Amino acid sequence: MDLRGRRVLVIGGAGFIGSHVVEQLVREDVGEIIVYDDFTRGTVKNLETALRDPRVKIFELGGNILHTDLLDTAMKGVDWYLNTAAGAQTGGEAFSTTSTTTVSETRPFSGFVASTIRPWNVTSHGTTCGAG
Ligand SMILES: NC(=O)c1ccc[n+]([C@@H]2O[C@H](COP(=O)([O-])OP(=O)(O)OC[C@H]3O[C@@H](n4cnc5c(N)ncnc54)[C@H](O)[C@@H]3O)[C@@H](O)[C@H]2O)c1
Repeated sequence: MDLRGRRVLVIGGAGFIGSHVVEQLVREDVGEIIVYDDFTRGTVKNLETALRDPRVKIFELGGNILHTDLLDTAMKGVDWYLNTAAGAQTGGEAFSTTSTTTVSETRPFSGFVASTIRPWNVTSHGTTCGAG
Protein backbone atom coordinates (compact mmCIF):
# COMPACT_ATOMS: atom_id res chain seq x y z
CA MET A 1 0.00 0.00 0.00
CA ASP A 2 1.36 3.37 -1.01
CA LEU A 3 0.82 5.83 1.85
CA ARG A 4 2.98 8.59 0.41
CA GLY A 5 1.32 11.93 1.08
CA ARG A 6 -1.76 10.18 2.46
CA ARG A 7 -3.88 11.15 5.43
CA VAL A 8 -4.00 8.33 7.96
CA LEU A 9 -6.22 7.93 11.02
CA VAL A 10 -4.99 5.71 13.84
CA ILE A 11 -7.89 4.82 16.10
CA GLY A 12 -6.66 3.85 19.54
CA GLY A 13 -3.41 5.53 18.50
CA ALA A 14 -2.43 6.51 22.04
CA GLY A 15 -2.42 2.89 23.22
CA PHE A 16 0.36 0.34 23.21
CA ILE A 17 -0.02 -0.97 19.67
CA GLY A 18 -1.49 2.23 18.22
CA SER A 19 1.35 4.44 19.41
CA HIS A 20 3.90 2.05 17.90
CA VAL A 21 1.99 2.17 14.63
CA VAL A 22 2.13 5.97 14.77
CA GLU A 23 5.88 5.81 15.35
CA GLN A 24 6.29 3.56 12.33
CA LEU A 25 4.15 5.83 10.17
CA VAL A 26 6.28 8.83 11.14
CA ARG A 27 9.22 7.03 9.52
CA GLU A 28 7.31 6.85 6.25
CA ASP A 29 6.47 9.60 3.80
CA VAL A 30 2.89 9.83 5.10
CA GLY A 31 1.19 13.21 4.69
CA GLU A 32 -0.69 13.41 7.98
CA ILE A 33 -1.25 11.08 10.93
CA ILE A 34 -4.29 11.70 13.10
CA VAL A 35 -4.79 9.93 16.41
CA TYR A 36 -8.37 9.20 17.42
CA ASP A 37 -8.44 7.95 21.02
CA ASP A 38 -10.64 8.47 24.07
CA PHE A 39 -7.58 8.19 26.36
CA THR A 40 -9.27 5.75 28.72
CA ARG A 41 -6.10 3.69 28.56
CA GLY A 42 -3.81 5.42 26.12
CA THR A 43 -1.65 8.38 27.10
CA VAL A 44 -0.12 11.42 25.45
CA LYS A 45 3.19 10.19 26.88
CA ASN A 46 3.00 7.18 24.55
CA LEU A 47 2.99 9.70 21.69
CA GLU A 48 5.60 12.04 23.11
CA THR A 49 8.23 11.36 20.45
CA ALA A 50 5.80 11.12 17.55
CA LEU A 51 4.10 14.40 18.45
CA ARG A 52 7.36 16.25 17.80
CA ASP A 53 6.61 15.61 14.14
CA PRO A 54 4.21 18.28 12.83
CA ARG A 55 2.40 15.68 10.72
CA VAL A 56 1.11 13.97 13.87
CA LYS A 57 -2.06 15.40 15.41
CA ILE A 58 -4.50 14.31 18.06
CA PHE A 59 -8.11 14.71 16.94
CA GLU A 60 -9.18 17.31 19.47
CA LEU A 61 -12.97 17.21 19.32
CA GLY A 62 -13.08 13.81 21.01
CA GLY A 63 -12.01 10.25 20.43
CA ASN A 64 -14.61 7.68 21.39
CA ILE A 65 -15.53 5.27 18.59
CA LEU A 66 -19.03 5.03 20.03
CA HIS A 67 -19.51 8.73 19.18
CA THR A 68 -20.30 8.17 15.54
CA ASP A 69 -20.76 11.85 14.68
CA LEU A 70 -17.20 12.55 15.82
CA LEU A 71 -15.92 9.45 14.09
CA ASP A 72 -17.55 10.71 10.87
CA THR A 73 -15.84 14.07 11.25
CA ALA A 74 -12.48 12.48 12.03
CA MET A 75 -12.71 10.22 8.98
CA LYS A 76 -13.44 13.02 6.54
CA GLY A 77 -10.63 13.23 4.01
CA VAL A 78 -8.87 10.21 5.46
CA ASP A 79 -7.30 7.83 2.92
CA TRP A 80 -6.53 4.96 5.26
CA TYR A 81 -7.34 4.06 8.84
CA LEU A 82 -6.34 1.45 11.36
CA ASN A 83 -8.39 0.52 14.41
CA THR A 84 -6.50 -0.70 17.46
CA ALA A 85 -9.13 0.49 19.94
CA ALA A 86 -11.81 -2.13 19.45
CA GLY A 87 -12.06 -4.56 22.31
CA ALA A 88 -9.33 -2.86 24.25
CA GLN A 89 -11.41 -1.60 27.12
CA THR A 90 -14.94 -1.68 28.38
CA GLY A 91 -16.90 0.04 31.09
CA GLY A 92 -13.77 1.56 32.57
CA GLU A 93 -12.26 -1.88 33.18
CA ALA A 94 -9.43 -3.05 31.02
CA PHE A 95 -9.40 -6.50 29.52
CA SER A 96 -7.19 -8.21 27.03
CA THR A 97 -8.23 -10.31 24.06
CA THR A 98 -7.75 -13.42 26.14
CA SER A 99 -10.18 -12.24 28.81
CA THR A 100 -12.86 -11.00 26.39
CA THR A 101 -14.77 -14.24 26.82
CA THR A 102 -14.90 -13.73 30.56
CA VAL A 103 -16.18 -10.18 30.19
CA SER A 104 -18.77 -11.34 27.67
CA GLU A 105 -19.95 -14.01 30.06
CA THR A 106 -20.12 -11.87 33.18
CA ARG A 107 -21.23 -8.60 31.55
CA PRO A 108 -22.76 -9.56 28.21
CA PHE A 109 -23.61 -6.01 27.11
CA SER A 110 -20.12 -4.68 27.76
CA GLY A 111 -18.65 -7.59 25.83
CA PHE A 112 -21.09 -7.02 22.98
CA VAL A 113 -20.26 -3.31 22.79
CA ALA A 114 -16.53 -4.02 22.80
CA SER A 115 -16.50 -6.86 20.33
CA THR A 116 -19.30 -5.88 17.97
CA ILE A 117 -20.56 -2.30 18.13
CA ARG A 118 -17.15 -0.64 18.30
CA PRO A 119 -15.63 -2.47 15.33
CA TRP A 120 -18.92 -2.05 13.43
CA ASN A 121 -18.93 1.70 14.04
CA VAL A 122 -15.43 2.02 12.72
CA THR A 123 -15.93 -0.17 9.67
CA SER A 124 -19.27 1.30 8.62
CA HIS A 125 -18.13 4.88 9.07
CA GLY A 126 -14.89 4.22 7.28
CA THR A 127 -16.84 2.87 4.32
CA THR A 128 -19.23 5.83 4.33
CA CYS A 129 -16.35 8.28 4.37
CA GLY A 130 -14.51 6.41 1.62
CA ALA A 131 -11.49 5.58 3.74
CA GLY A 132 -9.75 2.29 3.07
N1 LIG B 1 -0.93 -5.68 23.30
C1 LIG B 1 -0.94 -6.93 22.87
O1 LIG B 1 0.01 -7.70 23.06
C2 LIG B 1 -2.11 -7.45 22.07
C3 LIG B 1 -2.05 -8.73 21.51
C4 LIG B 1 -3.11 -9.20 20.76
C5 LIG B 1 -4.23 -8.40 20.56
N2 LIG B 1 -4.28 -7.17 21.12
C6 LIG B 1 -5.46 -6.39 20.87
O2 LIG B 1 -5.09 -5.22 20.14
C7 LIG B 1 -5.89 -4.13 20.56
C8 LIG B 1 -5.01 -3.00 21.09
O3 LIG B 1 -4.19 -3.49 22.14
P1 LIG B 1 -3.26 -2.52 22.99
O4 LIG B 1 -2.34 -3.38 23.76
O5 LIG B 1 -2.70 -1.47 22.10
O6 LIG B 1 -4.32 -1.90 23.98
P2 LIG B 1 -4.28 -0.48 24.70
O7 LIG B 1 -5.30 -0.54 25.76
O8 LIG B 1 -2.89 -0.09 25.05
O9 LIG B 1 -4.75 0.49 23.53
C9 LIG B 1 -6.10 0.65 23.18
C10 LIG B 1 -6.36 2.11 22.97
O10 LIG B 1 -7.73 2.27 22.64
C11 LIG B 1 -8.25 3.37 23.36
N3 LIG B 1 -9.69 3.14 23.52
C12 LIG B 1 -10.33 2.28 24.35
N4 LIG B 1 -11.65 2.38 24.19
C13 LIG B 1 -11.85 3.33 23.22
C14 LIG B 1 -13.01 3.87 22.62
N5 LIG B 1 -14.24 3.49 22.97
N6 LIG B 1 -12.85 4.81 21.66
C15 LIG B 1 -11.61 5.23 21.29
N7 LIG B 1 -10.47 4.75 21.85
C16 LIG B 1 -10.60 3.80 22.79
C17 LIG B 1 -7.48 3.38 24.68
O11 LIG B 1 -7.48 4.66 25.28
C18 LIG B 1 -6.10 2.97 24.22
O12 LIG B 1 -5.30 4.06 23.84
C19 LIG B 1 -6.85 -4.68 21.62
O13 LIG B 1 -8.06 -5.03 21.00
C20 LIG B 1 -6.13 -5.88 22.15
O14 LIG B 1 -7.03 -6.80 22.70
C21 LIG B 1 -3.25 -6.68 21.85
